[in-house]
Amino acid sequence: MTEKDLKFFQSWFSRYCRSFYTGNEEDRKNLFLKEEHTRHVCKNMRRITKDISMESSKGLLAETIALFHDIGRFPQYSEYKTFRDGSSVNHATLGTEVLCREGVLKTLPKNEQQIILQAIKFHNAYAIPDIRDNDMALFMRLIRDADKLDIWRVFVEYLAVPAKDRPSAVGLGLPHIPEYSEDVLSRLLSSRMASLSMLKTLNDFILMQLSWVYDLNFRTSFILLKERDYLKKLISTLPSTEAIGKLSLFLEEYIMEHIQGAPSHHDL
Ligand SMILES: [Fe+2]
Repeated sequence: MTEKDLKFFQSWFSRYCRSFYTGNEEDRKNLFLKEEHTRHVCKNMRRITKDISMESSKGLLAETIALFHDIGRFPQYSEYKTFRDGSSVNHATLGTEVLCREGVLKTLPKNEQQIILQAIKFHNAYAIPDIRDNDMALFMRLIRDADKLDIWRVFVEYLAVPAKDRPSAVGLGLPHIPEYSEDVLSRLLSSRMASLSMLKTLNDFILMQLSWVYDLNFRTSFILLKERDYLKKLISTLPSTEAIGKLSLFLEEYIMEHIQGAPSHHDL
């Protein structure tokens, strides 16, 4: 693909987003948040692909995945007024359906279309599927890192404003009470990711997001996470118990190991 293709996709994306805005202030806040998120994920993607010295046509493909990864959020919100996939629809699958139905990618070679669609389809899965295609796996890992890095930003900003000014759909409707679930915390302390189905409170959701550290694939992602201080910012919103203090040190150490250690096999 070329720069020209990317320009076309960017203007298609803007037009598509605009078509969902209504006069409702709450809807505007929720949709704007996803547009902003997309912009930041594209930026994260450019940074990571530059750091791994990806060739430029592949970099454009990666940016297209970033641009369209959450396209399904717009029809999802418009129909169900929620970003909670469990009570509506899988926004990743919906996104691939939108792209196919609208024929957005039709100017690209078939193999590039496939990479974009598959990477979008699995961007929100608990883990990437076991596939042999190294190129495909690389793009899947890239979008998962670029996306996670920005979900942390969204959450840090969400928690920093008074509850009444928050974009309502971000917290998935989970209660913001000073409690978290022990099973979610124990997952993190055994270096495993938590899953959406375990969440009972907003603090559980924050813990689940912290568990994504274990799913990061590129050294740059750990560097950006550290630079932007998301870990400390999110932990500071949780109850200050001894167990949370322990978790904070544990995660900090994991991040530092991945910044200082030898590049992992994912750092192609
Ligand atoms: Fe997403």
